[in-house]
Parts: sequence; structure tokens; C-alpha cells
Amino acid sequence: MLLKITVLPGDGIGPEVTEQAVLVLHSVADAFGHRLQFQDKLIGGAALTTSNDPLPPDTLQACLASSAVLLGAVGSPVFDHNPGHLRPEAGLLRLRRELGVFANLRPAVFFPALEDCSPLRAEIVRGTDIMIVRELLGGVYFGQPRSIEGSPGSRVAINTMRYGEDEIERIARVAFDLAMKRKRKLLSVDKANVLECSRLWREVVTRVGKDYPEVKLGHQYVDSAATLLVQRPTEFDVVLTENMFGDILSDQAGGLVGSLGLLASASIGGPVGLYEPVHGSAPDIAGKGIANPLGAILSVAMMLRHTFHLEQEAACIENAVSSALSHGARTADIAGKTHTATSTPEMGGRVLEAVRTGAPASA
Ligand code: IPM
Ligand code: MG
Repeated sequence: MLLKITVLPGDGIGPEVTEQAVLVLHSVADAFGHRLQFQDKLIGGAALTTSNDPLPPDTLQACLASSAVLLGAVGSPVFDHNPGHLRPEAGLLRLRRELGVFANLRPAVFFPALEDCSPLRAEIVRGTDIMIVRELLGGVYFGQPRSIEGSPGSRVAINTMRYGEDEIERIARVAFDLAMKRKRKLLSVDKANVLECSRLWREVVTRVGKDYPEVKLGHQYVDSAATLLVQRPTEFDVVLTENMFGDILSDQAGGLVGSLGLLASASIGGPVGLYEPVHGSAPDIAGKGIANPLGAILSVAMMLRHTFHLEQEAACIENAVSSALSHGARTADIAGKTHTATSTPEMGGRVLEAVRTGAPASA
């Protein structure tokens, strides 16, 4: 199979982690007999610096012409005072919209080798395997109107949370379909005691749920879901939620499995899938070679699964990550007191080695 991929390393630690993910992808492609075609393009702050546009037209065209996009991270304090449309994040938000990727899947899986890394006691976090399904193209991130108006001292800022029934229904179906392949448990997270958007959300999700009688559907307010997530994480299976709640809860889920650096994501629903680690650009550690590449590497596994339907290849990467961790490979974020920290390229190398040993010799 020919896999056509656009790589957008982006800002901060983005280039370091995507480099390792691409190396791992090469080794899997070799082992399973696939051909790869890569193209690197600029996004975010890296693009702003050269073209004053966080998503230059040739980047977008390259993404639309490929089968999948791997993104590192966007964001840099250099642009903190830029107007909204000239911030690095605006490039990513536009890319998501242009690609039509309304469904953002963010798995938070606890690795048994990392019992010492979670801030939670092992008996609480052991067995955690959550799939957060975050709506990615609606809500307060994209709602109009939005503005800051008035004169200094008396300015008013406006954002709009907006959801249409069709937007809720299509993301709900993605979540129910996933639940059918998992433990058939779905928790829809909202703030229906306060927000109209959430009341409509709950109504539509309940209606869609009638088509999935085998899925046990629950509803929870987001504040209470945040508490339960740290108290009883193993009780969660699929979590369905709107854009901003999903942004917040997925970072929390990263914290509870040991590090945000471990979390991968897939953004799907359009013709081209977008795959990115959940962690940001982490400017404080950029360029030091200490970032955790596992979020990016696991995002590539999600790409193989969701865009290319190469389940065996995806599992091969996931098993390799698990194996590298069991053999003590630890970047600084998950080294704790007991391990010596490995560098970003070393961690990538350990996964690569595990891919080579784990891949079927006959493939
Ligand atoms: C994420 C990030 C982005 C978001 C930012 C960089 C725009 O935090 O993917 O979680 O808020 O969606
Ligand atoms: Mg986020």
C-alpha cells in the first residue's frame, strides 16, 4: 500500500517528536511491505515567521492532496500578543475546519509499566482505558459572533457557544459506533443544568442512543465528570463531549495516566485524517531533546488504524511502545525517581527496536 502523508512539525517540541514518529512509521512500513510518501510543510508559528499566515495555502493544498496528516504542535509565546487570526493556534483550527474533521478521538490508556508515574494510587488507576470523543468543529471554538469591543477599561469580550442538532447527531454516532466495538458504555458529558447547548446536546444524544440499544448510555455534568475521572477512572469507557469540555477533560486524562506526553489523537470525519499528539508545543523544553515522542508515535498508530485500516500495523506500534516502557525506557516526564531519563531520539529508537522484534517476520 502507498501511504501519502503530509507532516506538519509545527512549533516547540513538534519537530522533535514528529521526527521520531516518522522513523517508527518507516520501520513499520518496511516490516509490513508498505511504501511511504512524505511531504513536510509549515504550520503555526513556524509558518507565521516565514509567511505571516499560520496556515499558508501550499500547506493546506498539500494536506488536502494527501491521505493523512501528522502534526506535531502549534503555539509559541512569541505570538502571544498577535490578533487572533495571526496566532499559531488559528492555523490548526482552520486546518481542522478545512479538513472537516469533526470527530476527535483521544484515548487515555494506562500502561502497567507506569504505575509509579500516575499521581493516583495504582489500585485506582490500574486498568484505565478511556476513549474521549471530542466534537472538534463546533461550540465556543467556532461560534459567531466573537469579538473584543469598546475602549480600554470598558471593553467587552464575546464568544458564542453554538451547536446544531446535525452537529451533535454526527459526533454522537461516531461515539456510539466506537462504544459498540468496546465495552458498550457511553458517558455523554455536558452542562445541561446551565447551558442551552447542553440541553439540546443531551436530547439529541438520547435520541441517537435509541438506535444503539446495546450501549449503556449515561449523562453527567462536566464538573462532576471531572471529579469522577480522578476518583474512579476505570469506570469510564467512551466519553462523548463538546469541543471545549473535551479539550479540558483530555488533558486531565493525560495527567491521570502519568503524562500528557503519552496521549495520541485522531481527528476524523472528513476525507483526510489529522493525527496529532495531545500535548502542546511545550516551548520551555523545546530543542532540548527531552520531550516524550510517544504521543506522536501513538498518533501514527491511530493513523494506520483509522485512515489506512491497517490494524495489525497499528497494534505493532502500540505493542512496541508498551514493550519499550516495560523495558524501562523513560523520557524525563515519566522517569520519576526510579529511572534515568532517556532522550527523545533514544525513546524513539527503543520503540523502533521493539517494532523490529515484534513485527511478523513473514510480513
Ligand atoms: C488541543 C489544543 C488545541 C485546542 C489548541 C492548540 C488550539 O489544546 O488540541 O487540545 O484547544 O484544541
Ligand atoms: Mg488542548
